[in-house]
Amino acid sequence: MDGPMIEARNLEKRFTVRRHREGAFGAMRSLVDRGGNEVSAVKDVSFSINRGEMVGYIGPNGAGKSTTIKMLTGILVPSSGEATVAGFTPRESRKQLAQQIGVVFGQRTQLWWDLALADSLELLRHMYRVPEKRFRENLNRARELLVLDDFMHTPVRQLSLGQRMRGDLAAALLHDPKILYLDEPTIGLDIVAKARIREFLAALNRETHVTVLLTTHDLADIEQLCRRIIVIDRGQVVYDGELGALRNRFGGKRHVILDFDQDPGDAISTLAGNNLEIVDHNGPRVRVAFDRETTSTPRVLALASHHGTVRDVSIEEPAIEDVIRQMYEGPDSQHP
Ligand SMILES: Nc1ncnc2c1ncn2[C@@H]1O[C@H](COP(=O)(O)OP(=O)(O)O)[C@@H](O)[C@H]1O
Ligand SMILES: [Mg+2]
Repeated sequence: MDGPMIEARNLEKRFTVRRHREGAFGAMRSLVDRGGNEVSAVKDVSFSINRGEMVGYIGPNGAGKSTTIKMLTGILVPSSGEATVAGFTPRESRKQLAQQIGVVFGQRTQLWWDLALADSLELLRHMYRVPEKRFRENLNRARELLVLDDFMHTPVRQLSLGQRMRGDLAAALLHDPKILYLDEPTIGLDIVAKARIREFLAALNRETHVTVLLTTHDLADIEQLCRRIIVIDRGQVVYDGELGALRNRFGGKRHVILDFDQDPGDAISTLAGNNLEIVDHNGPRVRVAFDRETTSTPRVLALASHHGTVRDVSIEEPAIEDVIRQMYEGPDSQHP
């Protein structure tokens, strides 16, 4: 197949909601048009994802992430705009598309509560018409990588959240989908369960080149799995690019910690003003903050060398959480 695996072109989704009594839902009002009964869940979302990419789709609660994913699966029909997924238009070819995609919604399961996991998977095999041999192969891989054997015969309702999520991942992959949509797959999981799922996804993507669109609140998921992120806020894409570049663009000041071989003394204060600021000075250790637009770490080092021998340098990147928070709140975000 030529072209991108997932393409969204100006997707928009409006929902009609019942008019609430005045004041009852103050927080909702900003989302509601002047007309009074339409919510724009997704306003204008365009992106293009190639085969084998693993893209993080992030944004605050209510930004429109799940609604986008539902349009890309064919569960919801866009109010305007178009999507092409694995060569299909989801709304027209939902059945054919179902053969090409796997979906995990962390908040619900596609397994049957009363059935053992093994029986749930067997039932899905029939629903997706997965050939026996392929089913066995995929099941064996999932059993091994997701370590399912301890609970294959346990009813789904008795599984822990992490076990259930592993079962859901196995279920989503039985028919070898080309695309995997994961909507909050690590929500509510402990660190060990999260790590297991991340390792599985990384291995799966490496081995099968499955294309993954991943929504999560846990930015560590993104940092470990996705080179590219798309950030959505109030139904619009506010960033699409590399995670690293995001830090540069929105990360604000870079901090550098200089360890001199001895205390550079009060004279170090003359460093300030060269587009940089001394945040802390404690004996031989000096912390400097500067704007990455106007100065650079080598320049800071050159300036510092006038004050003594720099034994060690460490650069502190802002936490990605801070970068993203700043982006939602900062002047660059396109809030109406
Ligand atoms: N079926 C629906 N009817 C009315 N409003 C909806 C419906 N689904 C989602 N919304 C609203 O659309 C906005 C986006 O929702 P959603 O896509 O679930 O956001 P996210 O997944 O980013 O948290 C929210 O304000 C939500 O309340
Ligand atoms: Mg959601």
